[in-house]
Amino acid sequence: MVICSCNVLTEKQIAAVVAAGADRLRDVYLACGCKAECGCCAATILGMVRSGAQAPAR
Ligand code: FES
Repeated sequence: MVICSCNVLTEKQIAAVVAAGADRLRDVYLACGCKAECGCCAATILGMVRSGAQAPAR
């Protein structure tokens, strides 16, 4: 599932960089080789960081 549509970052990609140690929003974008654009995904990504990148419940 795509979490960040501006940068086409998937839930799986974000979970991987958080698991690798990215513990701030900025670090997640940097680790994915991009930067925040519109910011619409920020809350979701922060939630993943705070929960240790567990996938959102479906
Ligand atoms: S959706 Fe992630 S920066 Fe726009």
